[in-house]
Amino acid sequence: MPDRALYPVPPEWAGRAHVDAAGYERLYRASLEDADAFWLEQAKRLDWVKAPTVAGNWSFDEADFGIKWFEDGVLNVSVNCIDRHLATRGDETAIIWEPDSPDGEGRRFTYRELHGEVCRFANVLKAQGVAKGDRVTIYLPMIPEAAFAVLACARIGAIHSVVFGGFSPEALAGRIEDCDSKIVVTADEGCRGGRRVPLKANVDEAAKRAPSLEKVLVVRATGADVPMTGGRDVWFHDAAAGVDTDCPPEPMNAEDPLFILYTSGSTGKPKGVLHTTGGYLLWASLTHHWCFDYRPGEVWWCAADIGWVTGHSYIVYGPLANGATTLMHEGVPNWPDASRIWQIVDKYEVDTLYTSPTALRSLMKEGEAPVKATSRKSLKLLGSVGEPINPEAWRWYHDVAGDGRCPIVDTWWQTETGGVLIAPLPGATDLKPGSATKPLPGVAPELVDAEGQVLEGAADGNLVLTRSWPGQMRTVWGDHDRFFQTYFSTYKGKYFTGDGCRRDEDGYYWITGRVDDVINVSGHRMGTAEVESALVAHPKVAEAAVVGMPHEVKGQGIYAYVTLNAGVEASDDLRDELCKWVRREIGPIATPDALQFAPGLPKTRSGKIMRRILRKIAEGDVGSLGDTSTLADPAVVDDLVENRVTR
Ligand code: WTA
Repeated sequence: MPDRALYPVPPEWAGRAHVDAAGYERLYRASLEDADAFWLEQAKRLDWVKAPTVAGNWSFDEADFGIKWFEDGVLNVSVNCIDRHLATRGDETAIIWEPDSPDGEGRRFTYRELHGEVCRFANVLKAQGVAKGDRVTIYLPMIPEAAFAVLACARIGAIHSVVFGGFSPEALAGRIEDCDSKIVVTADEGCRGGRRVPLKANVDEAAKRAPSLEKVLVVRATGADVPMTGGRDVWFHDAAAGVDTDCPPEPMNAEDPLFILYTSGSTGKPKGVLHTTGGYLLWASLTHHWCFDYRPGEVWWCAADIGWVTGHSYIVYGPLANGATTLMHEGVPNWPDASRIWQIVDKYEVDTLYTSPTALRSLMKEGEAPVKATSRKSLKLLGSVGEPINPEAWRWYHDVAGDGRCPIVDTWWQTETGGVLIAPLPGATDLKPGSATKPLPGVAPELVDAEGQVLEGAADGNLVLTRSWPGQMRTVWGDHDRFFQTYFSTYKGKYFTGDGCRRDEDGYYWITGRVDDVINVSGHRMGTAEVESALVAHPKVAEAAVVGMPHEVKGQGIYAYVTLNAGVEASDDLRDELCKWVRREIGPIATPDALQFAPGLPKTRSGKIMRRILRKIAEGDVGSLGDTSTLADPAVVDDLVENRVTR
């Protein structure tokens, strides 16, 4: 394949897409010039109990800080995702579920069946005492019940907090306690890549550290024998027996909370990102429509986990609001072999696949044969999310996976943004491998330097957003001040994304990665501070510093420097023990890829760890450590360089 820098919109896309190039320009201009009228018009794609008369009401300034959208509107999210489709497509498939094992039996639910399942789930929650505004923690595998559970919460106005099934009991307990959740919905076990995940056992562990927890509702998934605690644990199938499959939807104000999702920041413990009802749903629906050009009858597959924001917005809310057929896969893309993802594409004739660069890189390693063994002729469009996609992976996705036929939609966004903010529209935007291209309507990016000076034209800087959009998070659960301080205090009057970014001569945006102490491991956000505090919680550890390092498949890996307590001997066994410890404290995704014992860490005379130096050493870039003379003890650097590790 020739190496083309620009991939123009294919003519058939320009002709058939919802939005073409001129349409994009028009929408973008209208969204900024007459924002209120624009958003009230867009809001009509939802079904409102009471339509809103106001659009955005927000300020990023400290004096009158606050974000509201459609504040006098009333609606119910589950009605928008289910009930309103019943008359027109009640018998069409809403959810296709493909189990972890290719030998397992899949499940399918029409919109009408989904309605019954969600209502029943909602009635079970109510019977367990869940009321509007209560927090429901969901710790489920990727089974259809995960979608039923979130939609059931939305139906009755409860606030869900989904915790990724890969998180440890410790991490789960912290999230249950932070939002004072009295109920956890879980399953006996989950399945992932042929392995069992002991979810119920993890909840039992977490419960010891989460006094707010009163009830555990357990879905039978694998049939494993799990102990049940009397008075606390309830089998879902028992609670659901004979329960009504109709449940009246709770009318919600547009600004009522819909969900909390915990995500890592550069400091402290994970924060509970709060999304509300009207603006979030509109953003999820609209971006799914714009970016992926969904059409009735198509099969949509977002291969994320529902434990991450991508799963919320693009497995459940966006696609279902648009009446789509959404595919849920319980497992991983490369198990039992590297063909699995493409076999699923063929099995269900998937039209659009949305996955992560890390998944692509793990498949690339296996060569083209596993891809070419499948047809993939159903594919029309390919999406990417979670981290910068390197041009090599982009071209492989385009040329090998998509046979050169399918536009690549590289979508930049964050848990905080609710949905995609910067991405090409397949009928409107010429593509450049590695660039998320241009802002969606209503999105106003700016690049600033460290001092906050706005950079014009082609430039490299920190990415900020100068306007609110409906899908923006509204607060950090229980800590509104932290919300302001984290995102709006660095650059006055602007939302700071934490990402570095380059804008080229054509106005295309190229996200270069986090500029704060957040690392992106396999597309999963991890705060270095979290891993550090897990390490120092170990009785043999005195101090720890964690940085990202380049990793061929994961994008970034975790490199930990550990100073042991006096008298403790460093050894390979201890290294393994510490890695296992972190895994147990946070979860497998936080396991260090490399761990170096460091007699000392490079610190300034005021005691601040010089992470810049640690990053360089982890990267193997030891020739350009810069000025180390300001260090309290410059000699520690030589030791670190000399004893650099690769695992
Ligand atoms: C990174 C995931 C480059 C970015 C939806 C962001 C990306 C963080 C892209 C958010 C992309 C996500 N190109 N970088 N297409 N998508 N990121 O909250 O650093 O898990 O700030 O949301 O992932 O991660 P989060």
